[in-house]
Amino acid sequence: MRVLSIASECAPLVKTGGLADVAGALPAALRAEGVWMRTLLPGYPAVMAALQDVSEVYYFHDLFGAPARLMAGQAAGLDLLAIDAPHLFARPGNPYLDADGRDWPDNPERFAALSWVGAHVGVHGALGWHPQVLHGHDWQAGLVTEYLRQMGGGPATVLTIHNIAFTGSTDPGRIGSLRLDPWRFHMEGYEFYGGISALKAGLMGADALTTVSPTYAAELMTPEYGMGLDGVMRHRRESLTGILNGIDTDAWNPATDPAIRPYRDGNGKAANTAALRAEMGLPDADGPLCVIVSRMSHQKGLDLVPEALPALLEHGGQLAVLGSGDPALEHAFRSLGDRNPQVAVRIGYDEALSHRMIAGGDAILVPSRFEPCGLTQMYGLRYGTVPVVALTGGLADTVINASPAALARGVATGLQFSPVTAGALGFALARLCQLYRDRDTWSRLVANGMDQPVGWDQSARAYAALYARLTAAR
Ligand code: ADP
Ligand code: GLC
Repeated sequence: MRVLSIASECAPLVKTGGLADVAGALPAALRAEGVWMRTLLPGYPAVMAALQDVSEVYYFHDLFGAPARLMAGQAAGLDLLAIDAPHLFARPGNPYLDADGRDWPDNPERFAALSWVGAHVGVHGALGWHPQVLHGHDWQAGLVTEYLRQMGGGPATVLTIHNIAFTGSTDPGRIGSLRLDPWRFHMEGYEFYGGISALKAGLMGADALTTVSPTYAAELMTPEYGMGLDGVMRHRRESLTGILNGIDTDAWNPATDPAIRPYRDGNGKAANTAALRAEMGLPDADGPLCVIVSRMSHQKGLDLVPEALPALLEHGGQLAVLGSGDPALEHAFRSLGDRNPQVAVRIGYDEALSHRMIAGGDAILVPSRFEPCGLTQMYGLRYGTVPVVALTGGLADTVINASPAALARGVATGLQFSPVTAGALGFALARLCQLYRDRDTWSRLVANGMDQPVGWDQSARAYAALYARLTAAR
């Protein structure tokens, strides 16, 4: 089975969030299922610099504004196709934002080009390699189906929704510069509330839709979570499935992680906790050390933390935070850290520190308003770091709440709270401290989490089965 994955970011080459982790992990996970997945990426500087064994696949005289080439090569164990288009992608730093944190004004065209090249490879292949499925991720790959239509059809298509909050919308004045068929500017096409939406186009056009957890799949069909696309999702409900993400269990293995003091069970965590306290300048404490590793955005619910915090601190708990994003949230956390000796804050993006935090924390907080899947709560499970999560999306699907019944049966792995308010979070934090003091129950929680399967096996099988169904149907 040959599949072309089409993504705007891919770990370890370029990453702003979990999408990169997933795009980076899928090819290896699917290899075991007999799927040969290649990944089409924009030729950002980091991608072009990493590419080895390079050969030219196509030369385009005019790829959305200037000449470009499609290159095949290998990097970081990935089998890549990279779009060498300096006018679109030779920009440093974040793949979507300029140095001031603003969206690049030509983002619609930049990712239209990604989608167009994806469709082109779908129709014409790449040096004799012909994908049977085009598997796109998020709005950046949404226009694939529009271009396939213009090219007269092609292989089966899958679109995975990692986050429906990003719709890839722009004004209809760009129909020309996006090389869209003007006749398709209607409700069954790429029109969305009077504008163009790349995501809407893909949601309407793809043969199959997936999202990254079963609960988020159901949520997407509701006005509360659908971000205006819930009607489209209901319309396509027969074609939508939720397939839970896995995590990279080699990169995130507490027994072999080079960034930490390795351990095999909950007892081994203490050395990491002590080291993290020392690193973050936190004193010793009787209560649990809670950590947060997150993008700072409205989605993540971090604005609830300051108000809920007293419930943790009153019980001897502490908080260590690593994150970056929204300047107002960064400021709020900085000042929370400055005011409070039991709170330590690092603003920034730091892969190695994220490992030390998850190894050293007793608990990890994920108070998201919505969370399509979420990866950090799964890192927490694997590292014996008890997740305290909002009851939504993938957080609902990956954590077993420590209800009296679950505790009695010995199956609980963490705490879930609902609704997503500071009050409910505070209540969960107080409960966490109570569980922490009951050493037997706590050890059980930790051990259960570490035993939980969080790898890709099951989900890789689900994707492979989906590809097989789609190609058999043709
Ligand atoms: P999202 O994709 O919505 O940001 P996920 O939980 O799916 O949420 O994935 C986030 C990924 O980014 C995880 O791998 C997490 O460890 C990582 N991450 C987020 N913020 C930071 C940070 N400040 N430093 C290091 N890693 C981070
Ligand atoms: C998005 C979501 C996150 C998910 C990730 C990977 O960034 O916000 O919940 O884990 O994609 O699918």
